[in-house]
Parts: sequence; C-alpha cells; structure tokens
Amino acid sequence: GWQWIVIALAAYLLGSVPVGYVTAKRKGGIDIRRHGSGNVGATNVTRVLGVRAGAIVLAGDVAKGALAAWLGMRLGGVNGAVLAGVLAVVGHAWPVFLRFSGGKSVATALGAVVVVSGWVAGALILTWGLVVLATRYVSLASMVSASSAPVWLWLAYHDHAVLVGGLVMTVVVILRHRSNVRRLVQGAEHRAY
Ligand code: G3P
Repeated sequence: GWQWIVIALAAYLLGSVPVGYVTAKRKGGIDIRRHGSGNVGATNVTRVLGVRAGAIVLAGDVAKGALAAWLGMRLGGVNGAVLAGVLAVVGHAWPVFLRFSGGKSVATALGAVVVVSGWVAGALILTWGLVVLATRYVSLASMVSASSAPVWLWLAYHDHAVLVGGLVMTVVVILRHRSNVRRLVQGAEHRAY
C-alpha cells in the first residue's frame, strides 16, 4: 500500500542528509571529499578534523538510520524497519544532496540495526571493535562486521525478508569499500592508530 512508498521515500531522504559533509564544512571549513580517504564518514572526519567532529558525524549518521528504521517500524513492523533501513543506507551511499556520491553506510546501517535488534547491533559493534584492535584497519573491521550481519539477523528473526534486507545492506557496505579493498591489497590502507 501507500505507506510503503512513504516509508521508502522518507528513509531515502533521511539517509541522504550529508552529516559528514556539513560537519566538516562547519567545523573545519573544508570539503571533506578532498581530504584523507575522501569519504564523508565519521572515520575520515576523525582522521582529518579530530575525534570531536568525528563523534558528531558518527552520532548523526547512526541517528538518521535509526530514525528511518523507527518510522518504518511504526508503519510496517520489523519488515517496515528493514525496508526503511535499506533505503536509508542507499540514501547515505548515493545521496540526492551530494550528486549521488556519498559514504560507505556503516554508521547508518548500524543505526537501522539498533532498532531492528539491540543484541545484533551489539554483536556488530563487538565484531568491529575486535577487528580494529587486531588489525588497526577500520575499513576491514567495517566489512567483516557488515558481512556477519545477515547471520546475526537470521538468528534473531528467522525471517526471509529481514535476511534479504540485511544482505542488501551488506552488499551496499562492501560495494562502497572498493577503494579500501584496493588499498588493503596494495598494503597502502590507512591504519586507525
Ligand atoms: O566507515 C567507513 C570506514 O569503514 C572506512 O572509512 O575513511 O577509511 O575509507 P575510510
């Protein structure tokens, strides 16, 4: 029905909000797409402008995914939340406000997952943290954590629509990390610390 179209459109627009771009402009007076990895996410804003600006971006990008999924949940239950989460992730990666060239969708996907399942979000954060500690590669941690998401979501819901939604989010996150994969293979990826 009509509510699915409203959910999808609202979630895409929420995901499109360029939190990292705007924060870097306001806090550092720069176009973040021309610095560091060139990404508009919290990792790159932290790298270029420090942990305070990065924390704002992390919070904002998580919040827009969570808000989209929460709206989706209210209108269409867990399937609505997953649909909205996917569209927010797509909006973050290919935002209408940045000529369809956005970020890697890790924080936005996490925000959506927080609404869908708290313990799955916890498992993803734990996985991410362990890989960062073990390798010092944020990008690798994001890809490993995202790849594990469909497994946790299946264990949490045993629902095919939730599984497919999770898989789509994982594919978007991996696709958006192509430049990181290239750098990892070449041994040229940035280390977190
Ligand atoms: O969340 C994005 C992270 O996985 C990689 O960011 O700036 O190192 O490409 P970056």
